[in-house]
Amino acid sequence: MLLEPHIKRRLTRIAIGCVIGLAVAYGVVRYDMGKDETRRAEMRDYALNTPAPEIGGAFALTNQSGQTVTEQNLLGKFALITFGFTFCPDVCPSRIQDMVLAMDVLGADSTKVQPIFVTIDPARDTVAQLKSYVGLYSAPLWGLTGTAAQVDQIAKAYKVYYARSEAGDDDEAEKLADRTDHADSAVGGGDDDYMMDHTTLIYLMGPDGKFVTTFKENTDPAEIATAIRQKIQP
Ligand code: NI
Repeated sequence: MLLEPHIKRRLTRIAIGCVIGLAVAYGVVRYDMGKDETRRAEMRDYALNTPAPEIGGAFALTNQSGQTVTEQNLLGKFALITFGFTFCPDVCPSRIQDMVLAMDVLGADSTKVQPIFVTIDPARDTVAQLKSYVGLYSAPLWGLTGTAAQVDQIAKAYKVYYARSEAGDDDEAEKLADRTDHADSAVGGGDDDYMMDHTTLIYLMGPDGKFVTTFKENTDPAEIATAIRQKIQP
């Protein structure tokens, strides 16, 4: 093939340009992949070498029968624990229902599990209130309450967030207002008309009292049962 010299030179320059361009592109891609790999290695390192946050610990509360319950009473069984308040219109009942359904799935193994509901609203959730509340469920649920300081202690131990929020401007508050008959309220006025924001996780604790895992809202109860089964028969 005969080419004019100046065309030849131009083609050579284009070819060299292409090679340099590809080399730069390749270098950039490699560099990015390298960064990804470094980051992955860092995350892996972190996951392997960072201890799980300490969840759990000492507490003293009162169950729905008026008996004292401490962290010692959790030993020997798995514990499914969720935190909330009995006036909660939907989230708390559904989380308790998740625990109850997980117990159903476990069948005979459910005797190895204690489901527990801890109130973060001790002002309204008295022992009597919890007794009638846990009685609504088919599982042998513990309903735990205490003084504000005792509730604060277990909330800190389990890294549970809770705060009072005034009723009035959201759906939950409306539902609560529908359910609450203030004419019958011993407190009267409007002091007891409030909602609570709170962590909605279910905590799984092992028979040794140590934290195992948590389950977020909308977790399939079968998944909770499976997690427990895997710990029973590793
Ligand atoms: Ni709730």
